[in-house]
Amino acid sequence: MKMVHVFSASNVFKFVFIILASIEQTAVVKSNPLCPSEYPKFGVPIYKGDIDMLQFAENLEHLEADFFLWSSLGYGLDKIAPELVMGGPPPIGAQKANLDFLTENIIREFAFQEVGHLRALKTTVGGFPRPLLNLSAENFANIFNEAFGYELVPPFDPYRNSLSYMLASYVVPYVGLVGYVGTNPKLIGYVSKRLLVGLMGVEAGQDAVIREYLYERAAKVVHPYNHTVAEFTIRISELRNRLARCGIKDEGIIVPPFLGAENRTVSNVLSADYNSLSYSRTPPEILRIVYGTGSECVPGGFFPKGGNGRIARQFLDKPSN
Ligand SMILES: *[C@@H]1O[C@H](CO)[C@@H](O)[C@H](O)[C@H]1NC(C)=O
Ligand SMILES: *[C@@H]1O[C@H](CO)[C@@H](O)[C@H](O)[C@H]1NC(C)=O
Ligand SMILES: *[C@@H]1O[C@H](CO)[C@@H](O)[C@H](O)[C@H]1NC(C)=O
Repeated sequence: MKMVHVFSASNVFKFVFIILASIEQTAVVKSNPLCPSEYPKFGVPIYKGDIDMLQFAENLEHLEADFFLWSSLGYGLDKIAPELVMGGPPPIGAQKANLDFLTENIIREFAFQEVGHLRALKTTVGGFPRPLLNLSAENFANIFNEAFGYELVPPFDPYRNSLSYMLASYVVPYVGLVGYVGTNPKLIGYVSKRLLVGLMGVEAGQDAVIREYLYERAAKVVHPYNHTVAEFTIRISELRNRLARCGIKDEGIIVPPFLGAENRTVSNVLSADYNSLSYSRTPPEILRIVYGTGSECVPGGFFPKGGNGRIARQFLDKPSN
C-alpha cells in the first residue's frame, strides 16, 4: 500500500515540522494560537446605536468615581484624572469619610476602579463633561429620611464612620449593575458588549463586597438610630423600588423566603430575581432613582442639573409626567 509508505516515520516528522513551522509563522504575523482573539471574526465592533447607551453609563461611573475617591483620599477626579472630567463642575459637598483601615482600603480600590471604567468608556465611545454631582451629607440625609418616612435625628451622615459609609454606598454600585444588565440586550457591537460586561463584572463585585459587609452586621443597631443594618437596607431598597416605579428589582439583605434563593433562604447577600439572575433596569428607571424624584424628567438628588449625554438630556426637554 503506497499510502503507508508515504507516512513513514521520518516523513511524518518532516510533515509535522513543516506544519508547526508554518503555524509559528502565521502566529508571528497574526495572533497567538494559544490565546486567540476574544472577538468574533465577523460583525460590527461598535454599532452607532451603542454609543449613547454606553455613554449613559458615564453618569453613574462619575457619581461612583468622585464619591469613592473623595471619601477614601480627600480629593477627587479633578486631581486624579483631570482629562476625564472634561471641564465639568466640581462635585458639591464631597469630603473625606471617617473610615477604618479595612473600609478605606476597599473604597480606595473601588475609587481607582471607577477611574479605569471612565477611561475605558470615554476612550471607546467618547464622553461628555462630568455632570454636576451632589455628594453632600445633606443629600444622603434626605435619601435616608425618605427611605424611613420620617426625619432621622441627628441627620444621617455617610461620612460619619465606616458603617454609615457602607450603608450610603449600598445605594451606588447596585444601580450601575442593574443598569448594565438592562443595557446588554440592546447592544449590537462586539466591542460594546465586551466593554459592558467587563464593567458589569466589577460593579457586581463591588456590590457584593458592600452587601456582604452589611450582611455580616445585619443585626447591629446603627448608632445613634433605633434601626438595624438589615432594616436600613430593606428601607433603602424599598425606596428605590418606589422611585423606579417598575416593581421589585431591589431587595434588602434579609428578605421573606419568597424573595430568597429558591424560596429557601431569608439571607439575601445578593439581590436577584426568581431564578437568581440579576435584576435589570432601563435608563428612565435609573434616572428616577438617582434624581430621587421618581421622574426621569425632574433632576435632583445626586444630579441637581440632570445627567449628561443624549439619553439623559432627551427627558429633560420634555415636560414632567
Ligand atoms: C445638594 O443637596 C442638598 C440636600 O438636598 C441641598 O440642600 C443643596 O441645595 C443641594 N445643592 C445643589 C447645588 O443642588
Ligand atoms: C426601638 O425599637 C424597638 C423595636 O422596634 C422598640 O421596641 C423600642 O421601643 C424602640 N426604642 C426607642 C427608644 O425608640
Ligand atoms: C416560591 O414560592 C411561591 C409561592 O409562595 C411560588 O409561587 C414560587 O414558584 C416559588 N419559587 C420557586 C423558585 O420555587
